[in-house]
Amino acid sequence: MNRMNIIAPSLLNSDFLNLGQQVKAVEQGGAEWLHLDIMDGNFVPNISFGPGIAANIRKASSLVIDCHLMIEKPEYFVPLFAKAGANIITVHAESTRHLDRLVHQIQECGCKAGVSINPATPIEAIIQVLESVDMVLVMSVNPGFGGQSLIPYCLDKIKRLRALAPSLDIQIDGGVKLDNILACKEAGANSFVVGSAIFATPDPETTTREFVRLVNT
Ligand code: DX5
Ligand code: ZN
Repeated sequence: MNRMNIIAPSLLNSDFLNLGQQVKAVEQGGAEWLHLDIMDGNFVPNISFGPGIAANIRKASSLVIDCHLMIEKPEYFVPLFAKAGANIITVHAESTRHLDRLVHQIQECGCKAGVSINPATPIEAIIQVLESVDMVLVMSVNPGFGGQSLIPYCLDKIKRLRALAPSLDIQIDGGVKLDNILACKEAGANSFVVGSAIFATPDPETTTREFVRLVNT
């Protein structure tokens, strides 16, 4: 993956009855990735959708499909999301006993591998795999729901990771808005998940365009 500034709209808070239309809106707004939040009701206290919906989104769009697995037993689901057409699969360090093996499993399925850490998990939890992963996702809210506020100390984690890995893709997820995205960029993130700040606005296409412009100027 190139180091460029990417807006990855999260479909979690989009209008599921008009999913195809919502995907087209952010695509036309200039988003390059689609962020799919997969929740199982165990790892996080919410349920979203599974590989079937991901496969339908894959058919509807040529954007990079970025799957964020917030689930127990990610080892079991990695092949299913790869088959559904995911380009990037991100797993939580807290969700597996064998993170190194899981990273390689994702890559052997033909996908880029991301690892994620919850706000309270120190960056030390992923330091050993930084050389193997394609991306790190730093959660800036406690995962489970869209529409929460960014936890400021998470930006310090991004700063420290960026100092350790100057060319790594670092994604931030949770509470990213038009008024704080430049602080996230300043901290060192280059991929920005944006959920409610796009889909809770009346015109997701125009809002996406504003985000894309802002991080690339
Ligand atoms: C939270 C998810 C996020 C979230 C982003 O568990 O991983 O992707 O939906 O939504 P906002 O931008 O509203 O925080
Ligand atoms: Zn996410």
